[in-house]
Amino acid sequence: MQVLDRIDGFRKELDTARADGKAVGLVLTMGYLHDGHTSLIRRSAEECDLTAVTVFVNPLQFGANEDLDRYPRDVERDVAIAADAGAEIVFAPPVEEMYPTGPVLTSIHVADVSEGMEGAVRPGHFDGVATVVAKLFAIAGPCRAYFGEKDYQQLAVVRRMAADLSFPVDIVGCPIVREDDGLAMSSRNVFLSPEQRRAASVLYRALQAGATDLGRARQAMADTVAEEPLVQLDYAEVVETDNEYRLVIAARVGTTRLIDNLGVAK
Ligand code: PAJ
Repeated sequence: MQVLDRIDGFRKELDTARADGKAVGLVLTMGYLHDGHTSLIRRSAEECDLTAVTVFVNPLQFGANEDLDRYPRDVERDVAIAADAGAEIVFAPPVEEMYPTGPVLTSIHVADVSEGMEGAVRPGHFDGVATVVAKLFAIAGPCRAYFGEKDYQQLAVVRRMAADLSFPVDIVGCPIVREDDGLAMSSRNVFLSPEQRRAASVLYRALQAGATDLGRARQAMADTVAEEPLVQLDYAEVVETDNEYRLVIAARVGTTRLIDNLGVAK
């Protein structure tokens, strides 16, 4: 396992791997790795010859009153988990390496896909995501990049950005990994008190209620969340694509925001 914190060194390692004929897999994360992240790393390790994991808590994607400062961090633990899941490289740059001149003047905005849902509740969030993902793609070069469906709108933003800007990156979407009670795994789950943690499983129950009552899915999801006083609904929506309905939900449990979604085949 190699742990790198400089852009040049990381780029060179991946260039060398490709020159040796290796297929590179990339898993972008903000660290504090859990089984959702490791599912992406394992999939990459299965499908590629070399897997690189990035760990970077990207300030650009946090709003002024969001949880950047308290976002959980433990790079040493992340390195051990990534190695165990089959990664060969962890790239964990300091903020000054990624944004040496301070605030970036260049920002990527993916219109339309970034609007609504998380984009409406967190203004500027997806510009911050698209910008850092574009930067990490530019550093990493040709590869397969693994993203979780957990962040459904993010996956759509990244897919569109990569297509529009012709990045030499194949985007691979991976299924949501859940706790036993259905709660989607998230680095933010550590913020929940035991009582809040128990209450948080209502998100998954709401998605299931919506899935069994598609005609009035939004109401069914809202009604289910309303039964749990510790959880405040931000939105419950249904996104229709060619082959499925995607139920999408976001809520706050105390000061912690949780998101989740569920696909129902047409
Ligand atoms: P982060 O929240 O750390 O998530 C990193 C990757 O893990 C994302 O692709 C996310 O969708 C995936 N993931 C998280 N929880 C998951 C779960 N329960 N099941 C399956 N996949 C899961 O998403 C980000 O970081 C950042 O926005 C990033 C893309 C790294 C840009 O900064």
